[in-house]
Amino acid sequence: MKGESLTQFIIHEQRRNPSASGDFTLLLNDLATACKAIGHEVNRGPLAGNLGLAGSENIQGEAQKKLDVITHELFVRSLEWTGHLAAMASEESDEIIQIPSGYPRGKYLICFDPLDGSSNIDVNLSVGTIFSILRCPEGAKHPSEAHFLQPGRHQICAGFCIYGPTTILVLTTGNGVNGFTLDRDIGEFVLTHPNMRIPADTSEFAINMSNRRYWEQPVQRYVEECVKGRDGGREKDFNMRWIASMVAEIYRLLTRGGIFMYPVDNKEPNKPGRLRLMYEANPMSFIIEQAGGLSSTGREHIMDILPEDIHQRVPVILGSRNEVQRVVSYHLEQN
Ligand code: AHG
Ligand code: MN
Ligand code: MN
Repeated sequence: MKGESLTQFIIHEQRRNPSASGDFTLLLNDLATACKAIGHEVNRGPLAGNLGLAGSENIQGEAQKKLDVITHELFVRSLEWTGHLAAMASEESDEIIQIPSGYPRGKYLICFDPLDGSSNIDVNLSVGTIFSILRCPEGAKHPSEAHFLQPGRHQICAGFCIYGPTTILVLTTGNGVNGFTLDRDIGEFVLTHPNMRIPADTSEFAINMSNRRYWEQPVQRYVEECVKGRDGGREKDFNMRWIASMVAEIYRLLTRGGIFMYPVDNKEPNKPGRLRLMYEANPMSFIIEQAGGLSSTGREHIMDILPEDIHQRVPVILGSRNEVQRVVSYHLEQN
């Protein structure tokens, strides 16, 4: 119900499932708390000396921003002690993160990107946190990376929190997509966007055009047609956006439709795309599909991929159903 708090919402959800133990509800509450703490730190920005580089690199060889490191630590510290997680995996940690001895271990695994779009931090644009929750396989006393390597279809929850003009948490547990706005006066996320749906058609595309010469032919063809619009055989003209924060792009798709692409390219042939499967592509695919959209690499459904590595990259094409289908059909025609 619009206006109810996130806590009320997830307790209502829990009551609909009589076998639920309440663990998952508590985990979602912990996540909301972690996002509030991260949002606070992001908002303080230069006042807290939080901008700029940390002087280190992550496993992907990317220079870490101070806030990448701070938000990673905040996320881990908020969740490691609560007893709901069996282990964590983060963009900013080479290895999976174990629950310290002394704290109880729970039954869920979480993969997260503590700060998505961090290249936008210093220019004061929207950034966010992305997470994906999996069940820890039965009997896994000491979770290892292998236990995380489950296809996206196994996710039981995915969400992201966007720190923009307002702080909004978007969540799916496989029963539609709901958006909650942080009401700072009461410190609670409030349901403001129930049952978010992506229109099947769109006239807006998002892609980093500077990579154009490196794309494969099907993506070249699709984007060229969008750019030509009515003069090139499409029935309408298209608009383009590129924010370089996946959270902001996906939030836009959820509010007014669109197609978002970070396709495979031959810029760096050893990298199959830019975005990471476990903590960017899978959670966003779950959200997009739950909102009625589609998600593909161009050749297969993203959530069908059996992961081989926690930091593996994948091509991403997702959003309004009919446009994603069109791009996929161009890939099929080429093969
Ligand atoms: P991150 O900041 O977590 O490394 O992710 C950035 C991602 C994603 O949010 C965005 O869509 C994309 O990288 C931007 O890539 P370009 O810099 O190539 O535009
Ligand atoms: Mn990211
Ligand atoms: Mn990140």
